Amino acid sequence: MIRNDIKALSAYHVPDSDGLIKLDAMENPYALPEDLHRDWLNHLGTVNINRYPDADMLPLRRKIAEREGVMPEQVLLGNGSDEIIQMLLLAMNPGTCVVPRPTFVMYDLISRWMKRPVASVPLKADFTLDADHFLQVCAREKAEIAFLACPNNPTGNLWDEKTIDRIARGLNGQLVIDEAYGPFAERNHNHLISANVMVLRTFSKLGWAGLRLGYLLGDADQIAHLNKVRMPYNINALTQASAEFLLDHFELFEKQAAAICVERERLYKALAGMDTVTVFPSQANFLLVRVPDAVALFEGLKQAGILIKSMHGADPLLANCVRITVGTTEENDAVLTALKELLG
Ligand SMILES: Cc1ncc(COP(=O)(O)O)c(C=O)c1O
Repeated sequence: MIRNDIKALSAYHVPDSDGLIKLDAMENPYALPEDLHRDWLNHLGTVNINRYPDADMLPLRRKIAEREGVMPEQVLLGNGSDEIIQMLLLAMNPGTCVVPRPTFVMYDLISRWMKRPVASVPLKADFTLDADHFLQVCAREKAEIAFLACPNNPTGNLWDEKTIDRIARGLNGQLVIDEAYGPFAERNHNHLISANVMVLRTFSKLGWAGLRLGYLLGDADQIAHLNKVRMPYNINALTQASAEFLLDHFELFEKQAAAICVERERLYKALAGMDTVTVFPSQANFLLVRVPDAVALFEGLKQAGILIKSMHGADPLLANCVRITVGTTEENDAVLTALKELLG
């Protein structure tokens, strides 16, 4: 029989985006260039799909490790970073998971699946995080694990270095610094990796959302233990082959990330110039925006052929906020035109 607490959950809702400009899920808006697309397809043609994929994935872990300046033994691969969050919450001792609020919903949701208690620490109205308060809650709850999304989703800001440092040094449990939006931010936190600090990353926001590939960087012993709760063939053969091929063309994705940051700043300035709009500083590939009526704006943009995400109702701090993923120049122009019309 299905557990009653599972029955009480709502399924993760993914809205239909058919025919719409899709700016709701922080994807990279650029498709692969034609010649690279052709070479990638040729490469995929060499994969033997009658065989199980490589279970250990040393060649792929080696490539990622080189890029990150760590050893291959320090890399754990997941079917998206979501799956790694699940592995972490499965493998840690029973005990509370502590997160800021608002933040990425999957920390809370997966903890509930695992019957793990969650304690959340509200951000301030400007979305900054009080490190002392966070550590106090961790101590009070005897936190087994804590997640810090750096930059944070859905607020887009990156907490200052001192705050992250202080939490990394002061926490007794496991700290996971989730850098899903790291490619768009001014710094990363690999230097903080230790026996109880890990860094989580994903290729989803960089252009490979459809491949589902994320990775965790940590202490080699910790990674070896977490590897025991990884499904033996969690990364399919086509994703492995694609990632190995695309990592050899990584400059392209880095350039695209830089272009997205330029567009983010252009969009930010244009939104900041609108009277009825408050736009929050972002180091991610999306902007959080407060408007007079988020639900009406979401519907209005949808009528105009643009799908964004309304955050209204998700948390008191997000009242009348919407989250807009940065798209191509044309897509962002379409957003600005529609916003001007809808907001007057
Ligand atoms: C902070 C954060 N971490 C992790 C993820 C999950 O990414 P994926 O499972 O695609 O790697 C997301 C997705 O939106 C996110 O916002």
